[in-house]
Amino acid sequence: MDRLIYLDNNATTPLDPQVLADMMPYLTTHFANASSLTHRAGRSAATAVTTARQQVASLIGAAADEITFTSGATEAINLALKGVFARYQSKGCHFITCVTEHKAVLDTLAYLEKHGAEVTYLPVNQQGTIDLQILENAIRPDTVLLALMHANNETGVIHPVDKLAEIARRHQILFFCDATQSVGKIPLRVADFPVDMLCLSAHKLYGPKGVGALYVRRQNRRIQLDALLHGGGQENKLRAGTLNVPGIVGLGKAAEIAGETQEADASRLARLRDKLEQALITLPETGINGIGVPRLPHVSNMTFRHVKAAEIMVHARDIAVASGSACVSGTRDPSHVLLAMGLAEADAHASLRFSLGRFNSEEDIDNCIQEIRTAVETLRANSPVWQLYRSGAID
Ligand SMILES: Cc1ncc(COP(=O)(O)O)c(C=O)c1O
Repeated sequence: MDRLIYLDNNATTPLDPQVLADMMPYLTTHFANASSLTHRAGRSAATAVTTARQQVASLIGAAADEITFTSGATEAINLALKGVFARYQSKGCHFITCVTEHKAVLDTLAYLEKHGAEVTYLPVNQQGTIDLQILENAIRPDTVLLALMHANNETGVIHPVDKLAEIARRHQILFFCDATQSVGKIPLRVADFPVDMLCLSAHKLYGPKGVGALYVRRQNRRIQLDALLHGGGQENKLRAGTLNVPGIVGLGKAAEIAGETQEADASRLARLRDKLEQALITLPETGINGIGVPRLPHVSNMTFRHVKAAEIMVHARDIAVASGSACVSGTRDPSHVLLAMGLAEADAHASLRFSLGRFNSEEDIDNCIQEIRTAVETLRANSPVWQLYRSGAID
C-alpha cells in the first residue's frame, strides 16, 4: 500500500472536486463583497449567497430565511446556546444536555454555568442512548432549552430526535439539535421533527472548512437570539462580519450534492461498514460500541481489548482512523463518550473510530481489515498483558 486510506471522515471530509470548482471563481475573479450592492460584482456575490442559502435550506427542508451562515458548527452552537441564555433569562436559566455531547456543546454550557446557568447532564446507557423518562424527570419549570445531538461523532449512535422534540414541545422548552454529523449523511427534514434550532458544518459534508450554519425555526413562535458578533449587521444582525462568499458557495454546493447522493452513499457505506465490522469482530475480545441501536451507516467504533488504540495506529500507519473525537485527540484522556457508555478506561483506550466517506472504495476497506487485523494480532502476540489475560490471570 502506498497511499493513506482515509477513514476519519467524522473529523473532516475531503473537499468534493465539484465543490471546489464552484468555489474557485469566488476565490479569484468574483471576489466582491456580498454587501457591496452598489455595483454588479457585489450584487453577483450576494446572489451567490442567496443561492447557497436556498441549497442549504433545501437539504434540511427549511426556508432560506431560517438559515444563518457562521464559521462552522462550533460558532453556530455558541450562537444558539449563548443567544438563548442572554434572551430567555426571565423565563429561566436551566438547560438540559447529555454527557455524550460534543465538547462544543459541553464547553459552551460549562461557560454559561459560570455565568449563572444551571445545567443537567443526562446519562446514557451502555449503547449510548438516553432514557426518555430520565429526560422528562429532568425538566423543571425554569428549563429553557434542551441541547441534544442527532448523531454522535464518536460512535455514530443516533438519538430519536422526533421523540426528543415532542417532549421539548410538550413542555414548551426550546430544542437545539447538533446535527453536524448527520446532515448530508442521512435524510433529515426539519418538518419531520420540530427542532427549534439545528447546526451543521460544511467540512463534515465534503465542503470547505470554516463555514457552517445555524437553522432557527421561524414558524409559530419566533426565537430571539442575541448575536455573538456585532458590526456590520450582516445575516439579519445575527452574525456580523464580511461574508465568506467562497466558503458559503462551497457549503451550498456541498449541500446540493448531499441532497442528491446521501441515500445512495448511505447504503453503499453501510455495506462497507458492515463488512469491516463482520471481519474485525472475529478477532477475540473485540466489541462494537453502540451496536443494537440506530447508528450512522458509515461509522463504526470498535474496542480491541488489551491493545492500545495508539499502538494500533502506529502499526497500521497507512490507515487514518481516530481513537477519540479529533477535537480532543492529542490529549491522552480517554473518550468521554465511551466512558459514559460504561467502558473501562483501558477499553476506551483500546477503541478505534472508523468513519467511512464518499470517496472510500471496497478495496480501501479490504486493506483496512487486513492492516488492523495484522496490527492487533502482532501487538497482542508481543503483549505481556494479553498473555496474562490468556492465562486467566486478569479479566
Ligand atoms: C457533533 C459535532 N458538533 C460540533 C462539531 C464542531 O464543528 P466545527 O468544526 O464546524 O466547528 C463537530 C466537529 O467535530 C462535531 O462532530
